Amino acid sequence: MAKTKTVYYCTQCGYESPKWLGKCPGCDGWNTFTQETLVKESSRNTHKQTMTTPVILNEVSIEDSPRITTSFPELDRVLGGGIVKGSLVLVGGDPGIGKSTLLLQMSGKISDNGKEVLYISGEESLSQIKIRSERVGTFNEHLKVLCETEIEVIENAIVNSKPDVVIIDSIQTMHSNDITSIPGSIAQVRQITNTLMYLSKQYNITIFIVGHVTKSGAVAGPKILEHMVDCVLYFEGDKDGLYRILRVTKNRFGSTNEIGIFQMSDIGLEEVSNPSQFLIDENNEIQGAAITCFLDGNRPILIELQALLCKSQYSMPLRTTNGIDYKRINMLLAIIEKYYKINISSLDTYINVTGGLKLDETAIDVGLVVAILSSYYSKSINNSLVSFGEIGLSGEVKGVKHASLRVAEAIRLGYTNIIMPYTNKKDVEKNSSANINIHYIKNITDIKDIIMED
Ligand code: TYD
Ligand code: MG
Repeated sequence: MAKTKTVYYCTQCGYESPKWLGKCPGCDGWNTFTQETLVKESSRNTHKQTMTTPVILNEVSIEDSPRITTSFPELDRVLGGGIVKGSLVLVGGDPGIGKSTLLLQMSGKISDNGKEVLYISGEESLSQIKIRSERVGTFNEHLKVLCETEIEVIENAIVNSKPDVVIIDSIQTMHSNDITSIPGSIAQVRQITNTLMYLSKQYNITIFIVGHVTKSGAVAGPKILEHMVDCVLYFEGDKDGLYRILRVTKNRFGSTNEIGIFQMSDIGLEEVSNPSQFLIDENNEIQGAAITCFLDGNRPILIELQALLCKSQYSMPLRTTNGIDYKRINMLLAIIEKYYKINISSLDTYINVTGGLKLDETAIDVGLVVAILSSYYSKSINNSLVSFGEIGLSGEVKGVKHASLRVAEAIRLGYTNIIMPYTNKKDVEKNSSANINIHYIKNITDIKDIIMED
C-alpha cells in the first residue's frame, strides 16, 4: 500500500508546511492552514521521463499559425490575438457569472472552424449541457462533451482523442485518485493542474480551466493556480446587471491591459463591441449624473457616473459607493470641502457607476467631482459634456495618459463640450476641431463655473 503523508496548506496562497502554523510565512495570513493527506510516491509519478533532451533555441521552429481564432473578437483581443496552441488558460469568476456559457459558446465557434474541441464538465449532466447549448446556438460534430470528474479518466480521454482545445469545467469538481483529500482542496487542485499542464505541453493542446472564486478561501480558489498557468482571465460583473467584463490579469503571450465586454442575453453572451454607446444614456439631463472617459488598456470608453448627496440622518454620514473605492470618494469630498468652502462631508453620499463596472482609474476624478457638484447644487449637467482628469490633494488637476484618445472618443460619439487637464492641452490641440469646446482646467475650483454656466 502506498505511504500517506500529512501536510498543511495555506488556503490563501498555497504555502506548504509539514506542521500547522498560526501565521503563514508566505502571505502573512492568520489561521489559514488546513490539513490534507497525500499519498506519497504515487504510481503515476512518471511524467518527467519524456522530453528530457535539451534543444538548441535557434533551431526551435514555431508553427505557421500558432494561434487559433475564437471568432469572438472581444475574447481574441483579451487573449492577445487568439488562443495560443499548447497553453493553459485559467478562467476565474464568481459562480453563476457566465463562465460555462462563455466557454461553451467559444467551443462552438472554434469547432465551426474545424478544430476538435472536448468539453469536460464535472458540474452538469449531458442533458443540462444540451439544454444550455440549445439556448446559445448550434453545434457541429467537432465538439465532443464528456461528463467526468476523475482526472485519470480525463487524461485517457484527452490522450486518445488529442483534441485542439479542451475545457475543464471546473477545477473544483475534479479529483485524482492518488490523493485522498476532497475535490477542490489545494492538494487536488495542484495535482490536477500539474497533470493538465503536462498534457497541454506534451500534446500541444490548449486547455481552459474554469475556477470558481471563493470568497472565504475555504476551498482552493484560482489564486493558487495562477502562477502555474500561462494566462489568467477573470470574468466579472454584477450578476444581476447586464454587463460582464472579461479581464486578463496574466498573459505570457500578450498584454494584460485588455478587457472584453459582454452582455448576458437570453441566447447566451453577446459581445459589446462599442461599449461607450451602451454605458451612457445620451438623452438624459439629470442632476448628479456626469459622463467621463476611462481607459481599458488602450481603448477609451465613455461611462456615466452618478452621485446623490442628501441630508444625513446619522451623526456619521453614510458613504456608499458602487464600482468605485469609497476611500477615493472620501478624499475627493475632503478636497471639495476645503477648496469650495462648502460643508459637504456632513451629507450622506451615494456614488454609482452605471453598468455594474468597477473603475479604479484616477483619471475619472474630475468626472466624479462634476457629478458630486451637480447633485450638491441641484444643477443638471449639459448632456454634451464629458470630463476627465486626476485631482491631487491640493486641488490641482493633473494630466492623464492618452488624453487625445479620450477626446477623440468623445468627439466620435457626438460630445461637444469637454473638461480636461490643462497639462494635456498640447497633446490634444493639434487634433481638436473647431466645433468642439474644450475647457482646460488647472484646479478643482475651475469646475463649478463651467458646469453652472450652461
Ligand atoms: P453559467 O455559465 O452557468 O455560470 P458559471 O459557469 O460562471 O457558474 O451562467 C449562468 C447564468 O447565466 C445563469 O444565471 C443563467 C444565465 N444565462 C442567461 O441569462 N442566458 C443564457 O442564454 C444562458 C445560457 C445563461
Ligand atoms: Mg458553470
